Amino acid sequence: MDPRIVRTQPIPGQKPGTSGLRKKVRTFEQTGYLENFVQSVFDTQPELSGGALVIGGDGRYYNRDAIQTIVRMAAANGVRQVLIGRGGILSTPAASCLIRKYGTQGGLVLSASHNPGGPNGDFGIKFNVSNGGPAPENVTEAIYARTLTIERYLTLEAPPIDLEQLGTQRLGPLQIEILDPVADYADLMESLFDFDAIRYLFDSGLFRMRFDAMHAVTGPYAIEILERRLGAEPGTVINGEPKEDFGGGHPDPNLTHAPELVAMTRGADALDFAAASDGDGDRNMILGKGFFVTPSDSLAVLAANAHHTPGYRNGIVGLARSMPTSRAADRVAEQLGVECYETPTGWKFFGNLLDDGRITLCGEESFGTGSSHVREKDGLWAVLFWLNLLAVHQQSVEHIVRNHWQRFGRNYYARHDYEGVDAEAAERLIDDLRGRLPGLAGTTLGGREVAFADDFAYTDPVDGSTSAHQGLRIGFADEARIVYRLSGTGTEGATLRVYIESFEGDPARHDLETETALAPLVAIAREFAQIEARLGRVAPDVVT
Ligand code: G6P
Ligand code: ZN
Repeated sequence: MDPRIVRTQPIPGQKPGTSGLRKKVRTFEQTGYLENFVQSVFDTQPELSGGALVIGGDGRYYNRDAIQTIVRMAAANGVRQVLIGRGGILSTPAASCLIRKYGTQGGLVLSASHNPGGPNGDFGIKFNVSNGGPAPENVTEAIYARTLTIERYLTLEAPPIDLEQLGTQRLGPLQIEILDPVADYADLMESLFDFDAIRYLFDSGLFRMRFDAMHAVTGPYAIEILERRLGAEPGTVINGEPKEDFGGGHPDPNLTHAPELVAMTRGADALDFAAASDGDGDRNMILGKGFFVTPSDSLAVLAANAHHTPGYRNGIVGLARSMPTSRAADRVAEQLGVECYETPTGWKFFGNLLDDGRITLCGEESFGTGSSHVREKDGLWAVLFWLNLLAVHQQSVEHIVRNHWQRFGRNYYARHDYEGVDAEAAERLIDDLRGRLPGLAGTTLGGREVAFADDFAYTDPVDGSTSAHQGLRIGFADEARIVYRLSGTGTEGATLRVYIESFEGDPARHDLETETALAPLVAIAREFAQIEARLGRVAPDVVT
């Protein structure tokens, strides 16, 4: 079983985005497309030769084929051991957990997260480094640079490995371990949260919840943890069977893409608690009875209450949020007397802060929340954290959040997405806006005084690396804020994201509809960027 050298040539466009290389399945199916990228990982990460690698994905279409290709290439590239979730399944946080627990040199995570799957859908591949987190930019840049010069890749002629059989197999010198994808992750969760208290909550019979796995990877994880270990009634997990095309749905847990679940939290028979996760299990949406918790608020509430859970009983050392995430977390950090770091969008920016022991919790407006327990955001972790708080406080979700606002004030928040717009027009819009920012501070927009306006750049406090052009910020004197940014995760055209936030300290004004509270700022944001004239869109496609 000698390695075979296959001639290839560079394929343009293999630059990893916010979260790995994400393209249409059809693109990945082109000859040499996956191979070029995987070989570029091996060529730039020499520690993988003789090392161990975790491999798994969210089970979407092409997952199994990709794993077979990667395993043959790993063997040919001298990898010593691969750890693979049975059936090729690993949620993104579970992959991170395995990399850390077994001390591997990294992992390949196969997912396009919340993007639709199936033959006409999306696929993705992401390299995670030995801390369990997404590769930092210097690594993704090196991989990309390699894809531009690649001339050959290494593989083997071999029959497919058996992905269903737990235990050890061999492919030449490569040792293949097929693991239960759920067990290690579930054990980790059990070590962080008060499972007895949560079990008691379910046993009481007074508490009803549903978890929507959206036919994606979290089904088996949620069934094991919620229904088996915590004793929630069977059927608590809905859409729990992973499907290659996610049942035709869009596995993105938000108010637009999970309407059935949202409906279950309303009306006479409303659930007490509902939650959902995305394609690869790293996102979460939290709902109470008739009540939606924004991801930004969720991060702030978890931070303020962390000491009520066993895993964080000693409190938190610091917090981080991505720049467009609302500043609700900053207020908690201030009261706790800890730092709140503001990073660019993308989980990878939290890695150094976590590794350096500067933060315990972190989160993003894009339905991502996580902590130092792994190096990815973690959907089920957030759900269990909320369950732990509900069990401890014996209060409703709404009550907990309203108490939080009373204490810290409320950050009204919304994100408006203009999807699939002309990429050039969107880039021109951002470029022109950038040019108009200097000199804006001190003037007024729509009657509001601008306190600052800038093109967000980040210097990592741990390694000093810098990332420029991470979004345009306009901050107002009354603590309102507008942020403009182009998405880095789309696969067609461009998506303009406009993030709008206002702060309200007066509890008497915490009951407004978000839309009402933000209407004046929304108007300013649309007008200032000339969205309709430039993109031909009168309204956003998705509001979250
Ligand atoms: C992925 C990343 C997140 C990011 C999100 C949105 O989920 O892991 O870190 O916040 O995509 O990114 P985008 O560039 O589309 O706004
Ligand atoms: Zn995801």
